[in-house]
Amino acid sequence: MEKKNLYIQTFGCQMNVQDAQKMAVLLEASGYGTTDDPAQADLILVNTCSIREKAAQKIYSQLGRFRELKERNPHLLIGVCGCLAQQWGDRFFRRVPFLDMVVGTHQIHRLPEMIGELERAGGRIAETGFCDRVGSLEIPAQPAAGAVSAFVTIMQGCNNFCAYCVVPHLRGREQSRPLPEILREIEALAAQGIHEVTLLGQNVNSYGRALAEETDFTRLLGAIGKLPGIGRIRFTTSHPKDLSPQLIACFGEIASLCEHIHLPVQSGSDRVLKRMNRGYTAEAYRAKVAELRRVCPQISITSDVIVGFPGEEEEDFRQTLELMREVRFDNLFSFRYSEREGTAAVGMERPVGEGVKRERLSVLQALQAEHTLEKNRDCIGRQEAVLVEGANPNGSEEMTGRTRGNRIVHFPGRSGLIGKTVSVRIVEAFPHSLRGEAEQRGGADVH
Ligand code: 5AD
Ligand code: SF4
Repeated sequence: MEKKNLYIQTFGCQMNVQDAQKMAVLLEASGYGTTDDPAQADLILVNTCSIREKAAQKIYSQLGRFRELKERNPHLLIGVCGCLAQQWGDRFFRRVPFLDMVVGTHQIHRLPEMIGELERAGGRIAETGFCDRVGSLEIPAQPAAGAVSAFVTIMQGCNNFCAYCVVPHLRGREQSRPLPEILREIEALAAQGIHEVTLLGQNVNSYGRALAEETDFTRLLGAIGKLPGIGRIRFTTSHPKDLSPQLIACFGEIASLCEHIHLPVQSGSDRVLKRMNRGYTAEAYRAKVAELRRVCPQISITSDVIVGFPGEEEEDFRQTLELMREVRFDNLFSFRYSEREGTAAVGMERPVGEGVKRERLSVLQALQAEHTLEKNRDCIGRQEAVLVEGANPNGSEEMTGRTRGNRIVHFPGRSGLIGKTVSVRIVEAFPHSLRGEAEQRGGADVH
């Protein structure tokens, strides 16, 4: 088979990075190898995202750059995939006339067929139907050569319909992968030398709900916890309303489960949480945090917050800051609310002006910067198990890795340490990282 080149550009979340890896695995069988140079490509796929930001403008300008390549090489095929493809469908062709293909979030597995059709008959294809079972969920993603950790998709889609969120509309309803298939994939990753897995899903806590077999997320964690070679398990994202006592207990029971949870709170105001359709109160969130810390005192807790959701008053915002001061997140991702087509929040009363949103975001980020640094400083003097990921991109003769709490640590060391877990004493703290010194004896991934 003649070897052809595939160039994939990915925007957005980790789910999209995973999908891009799956596309590469899938298209290998059709004779495509990946290239880093779009000018060499026979097929360009742009994997779009529309969850956190209005990505459309960025995508159009990116596609505009590929137009010239298409003019030079009429055989070049160009496709868009991901959330924006799902949302826009064949409307994309009007805006980007030289586009060949629009591939919806449930249609990735059909890529080879669609490309075959375009190669044979030309024309354009847009496929954006939803399926009961997403074919691509079963394609194992292939981490980069030499990687130490890997992401594993365990479920996709979401049934929660938070008022601001486009995910249920563009990724469809929740679907979980059968447990044995996930275990098989992780075993294969361990055999390749992967030490750490991050289980991915829009709401991993509800894993297994729609599966025929009787299972749930804690059982999955327990089973992965027994796999030899996997020293670290992480997962993202959890919904506070579905964080069960059983799942909290796992942090005290499963040795390889890292002491970190990403638990998006979105707002500290009950009024706003209700309008957002989040299904919990700020008090209930605080109680879950307290329970997590009781079971696992060293757990690091990170979160997401949206400022400027319609109807958010100064008092609501103040309550968010108050919750932050009480909980003291280890890190926080914060966003200005922005409207998404098709969601329940579109047209809600009392929209917040962009200036106010900007102002609130900067107040919130300044507060979080204090907390992050303070939390990082708390690490000074501690002995941390650091999984070494590679050389420090900014410093010579330094290695970079992560603590179990997900903090980045730089320390003087040799490249032979990559993939190993090293015991590092933390000596300095920065806003986004730590510096340490490796102990003579090796570290271990234990609590
Ligand atoms: N506007 C702003 N932020 C959003 N997020 C999701 N949808 C929106 C939106 N419409 C944020 C939430 C979510 C994170 C992934 O992105 O905080 O947890
Ligand atoms: Fe979106 Fe809410 Fe589902 Fe998360 S839980 S993906 S925010 S709808």
